[in-house]
Amino acid sequence: MSETVKIDLYANNLDKTQVIATRLAQLVSVGTIILLEGNLGSGKTTFMQAFGRAIGIGTTLTSPTFTLIDEYTEGRLPLYHIDLYRLEPFQVPSLHLEEYWRGEDFPLGVVAIEWASKLITLPPQYLKINLSVPLLSKPLLSERSPFPEDLLEDLPEDRIIQLVAQGLPYIELLSQFQAREVS
Ligand SMILES: Nc1ncnc2c1ncn2[C@@H]1O[C@H](COP(=O)(O)OP(=O)(O)OP(=O)(O)O)[C@@H](O)[C@H]1O
Ligand SMILES: [Mg+2]
Repeated sequence: MSETVKIDLYANNLDKTQVIATRLAQLVSVGTIILLEGNLGSGKTTFMQAFGRAIGIGTTLTSPTFTLIDEYTEGRLPLYHIDLYRLEPFQVPSLHLEEYWRGEDFPLGVVAIEWASKLITLPPQYLKINLSVPLLSKPLLSERSPFPEDLLEDLPEDRIIQLVAQGLPYIELLSQFQAREVS
């Protein structure tokens, strides 16, 4: 059983979220698995857009809600951006996501999965990012789907970003992350 370490970060505005994503992007290496969780509009794709810019992707990432998997190869390492929102958990195994972190069928890169709560089996080691909007009640967010655009515009900018490291390489990643204070 490997160890878990959690840290809670508070982002009181969009910039802060982007700074956190950028710092993380500077520390990842090939084979890093990032699982993103959080309600509709909590900021998973926004986080990944800043992350993608920071690893050197010139175009702004879009949500792979319909394509399911987007592959970006122009950054300092490949990024596989996955969104499981439209799938039922039983459908996820047929995507064979493990091919992305096995490094046999695809060049190893960073694998980032939105709506990772749909994974029936988790990889043995990963970094999980839980995003939440502290000032908004959960039922309001989870009962309304698709997320109404007008409500999205009115969302407060405050976010709680919890980083959960599962396994020693990810615990090491988090300690490097913490060594640089978020300003
Ligand atoms: N501090 C913040 N961090 C992240 N996003 C923020 C923040 N403040 C405001 N926002 C806004 O909240 C929205 C988050 O939407 P985004 O598409 O990133 O969410 P999501 O979690 O990917 O949703 P979905 O589950 O629909 O994919 C964006 O419009 C973004 O600009
Ligand atoms: Mg999204």
